[in-house]
Amino acid sequence: ISPKYKFFREQGLRPMRQLPSALIIGVKKGGTRALLEFIRIHPDVRAAGSEVHFFDKNYPRGFQWYRQRMPPTLEGQLTIEKTPSYFITKEAPRRVQHMNPSTKLLVVVRDPVTRAISDYTQAVSKKPDMKPFEQLVFLNSSIGSIVDTSWGPVKLGIYSRYLARWLKYFPLSQFLFISGERLVVDPAVELKRVQDFLGLKRVVSERHFYFNSTKGFPCLFKSEGHSTPHCLGKTKGRNHPYIDPIIVQRLRDFYRPFNIRFYQMTGINFGWA
Ligand code: A3P
Repeated sequence: ISPKYKFFREQGLRPMRQLPSALIIGVKKGGTRALLEFIRIHPDVRAAGSEVHFFDKNYPRGFQWYRQRMPPTLEGQLTIEKTPSYFITKEAPRRVQHMNPSTKLLVVVRDPVTRAISDYTQAVSKKPDMKPFEQLVFLNSSIGSIVDTSWGPVKLGIYSRYLARWLKYFPLSQFLFISGERLVVDPAVELKRVQDFLGLKRVVSERHFYFNSTKGFPCLFKSEGHSTPHCLGKTKGRNHPYIDPIIVQRLRDFYRPFNIRFYQMTGINFGWA
């Protein structure tokens, strides 16, 4: 047993595993790992380290199984989990509501164009013989053709469609939308919003972050399990391939109406051109 657990037991405090009261549901490549690592610095937050994939793949295993995947918590500590595929899973909203209709839902969103390129970059890193982005993004692999909305990296960026499904089960007030762009530029400001939303004291702040110019991203001075400064792993903050600006523009035009719809639904203008 861990020294921490032993300490609690000796104090007569019994940590218990709880189902999460907040979930980071998406979006893939939005900055979900960064958000989880940043919020779990908070002493009143305990997080499942890896993605549990309960509401998509492991639902038949039942809530008891899910609870066992959660870290032990003391009274007053909040349990959180992140699995970005929940956002796009059809059954997830109903299932989460069934677990607890007051679950708080965090969604990190990012410009769908860069998100698509990020998603593609990740896919190529696993499957180097993949066709170029420029070919996969259009039907018939041709620039003159229409954008292939059935291709995962493109489809996932139509946030308004997925959000509409969630809004059938949860009021807007139970969501917090975090700008993936602002999470990079000013993590402390976004974390302030997150802590307020979760009803936590403002503990995570400017003093936890420093900008690592080699990595090009904010990193942490210290956090649970790390007593020294550290950044997220190599798979976070990858270099993206060069994409012809004409193709980027085609994608921007494609997403514009969906982005506007998403701004209307959330009441937030994320500023994606
Ligand atoms: P890239 O690798 O394309 O840059 P997720 O964790 O949801 O998969 O998101 C990954 C993305 O998080 C990265 O995409 C990166 O842009 C973003 N990110 C945000 N803050 C970061 C940070 N502090 N360090 C590294 N990546 C960060």
